[in-house]
Amino acid sequence: MKVLVIGSGGREHAIIKALKKEERIKQILAAPGNGGINCDAECVPIKATDISAVKEFVLTNNINYVIVAPDDPLALGMVDVLEKEGIRCFGPNKSSARIESSKVFSKNLMKKYGIPTASYETFSDIKQALSYVESSSFPLVIKADGLALGKGVIIAENKADAITAVNSIMLEKKFGESGSNIVIEEFLTGPEVTALSFTDGKTIVPMISSMDHKRVFDGNKGPNTGGMGVIAPNPHYTKEIAAVCEKTIFLPTVSALQKEGCPFKGCLYFGLMLTPRGPMVIEYNCRFGDPETQAILPLLETSLFDIMSAVTDGKLSEIDIRWKNAHCACVVMASGGYPQSYKTGFAINGLNSAGGVENGAVIYHAGTEYKEGGFFTAGGRVLGISATGNTLETALEEAYKTAGKLTFKDAHYRKDIGKY
Ligand code: AMP
Ligand code: GLY
Repeated sequence: MKVLVIGSGGREHAIIKALKKEERIKQILAAPGNGGINCDAECVPIKATDISAVKEFVLTNNINYVIVAPDDPLALGMVDVLEKEGIRCFGPNKSSARIESSKVFSKNLMKKYGIPTASYETFSDIKQALSYVESSSFPLVIKADGLALGKGVIIAENKADAITAVNSIMLEKKFGESGSNIVIEEFLTGPEVTALSFTDGKTIVPMISSMDHKRVFDGNKGPNTGGMGVIAPNPHYTKEIAAVCEKTIFLPTVSALQKEGCPFKGCLYFGLMLTPRGPMVIEYNCRFGDPETQAILPLLETSLFDIMSAVTDGKLSEIDIRWKNAHCACVVMASGGYPQSYKTGFAINGLNSAGGVENGAVIYHAGTEYKEGGFFTAGGRVLGISATGNTLETALEEAYKTAGKLTFKDAHYRKDIGKY
């Protein structure tokens, strides 16, 4: 069995490390992968969004299964193209990936099916958007419709900020065509929870809950990033809340997508806020979270490949998914300056030749390159350091102990993961 994983970040590295435990899988390949992934899989230099090159590679190399991990190839329809060739895939098709690739689609879906979310209006006309802002109270949340690397959300504290945000998205096209349409929504408050789930379009099985830390600096300060660290499970997510989410959000979403003619197969990501009015959806993603995956898959006991195959075959109800009764913490080491501009190409000290450390946490490579016998920084988020423990405290202690042994120029990581 040959499996190809599309993508190049810490999430893909975590998926690959989980698949490495499978005896059936004789070869794992990654397109394009990164310096650390190269230690666990064979990297092929194909861009994650190059659908025709991926298709040709899969057909000429007899790949049996393709896991499409990032949002953009899913939104572009990579799964549709591969499935047409008879290739088994993990990930939604283009139509169901709209749940992430279009916020207008996902908000309208929630409204139509009564799934709790912030109240909102959508706009394709800048004049109407600005006049809505004039008559609103604040804070107000302004979102570009399309994919924007997790940066297309602006929380405007006052009218002036809101006008600037609308202009930057719709007029200056700060996020490109993603901003042709916008959603303006009510500002919600409460703890945030990431609930990843496996679904085959009929059955949905939530994974262990987690808590991302999106702001770049300690104390939840500074701009939003792709995620600076995660803990799993999420301490705010009680059994009672989970039961409410299952009934009011998870099952209705799967059924809504089915009714709309785009049943979702893959990993469905629920970004939730536990508001005083109950749990609400902040966003959906059509894929595993990054870095959430790096704190969730280490807790999975059941074979990841068995689950993925069951999702592909529409047989998720037949599989029993078990989790370790433990905690996992992932601390992200980033390049100084991220999420704004940053330099790369700095040597990373403290890693062994396999890209990990002896007697410490697991290291997932997010943005690294291997050259001249060593690892170098090659992205904004560089490493994810994940540790498992019987308690959250022991997991965090281990992750931070390992982080303390790793250095590169201008490295930055939050020291307060798990405190929020
Ligand atoms: P998103 O990319 O939609 O997950 O948004 C990024 C972050 O912005 C979320 O994790 C929240 O912290 C914040 N956010 C998004 N929508 C809202 C909202 N309606 N109310 C308050 N915060 C929000
Ligand atoms: N960590 C947030 C995301 O994957 O979208």
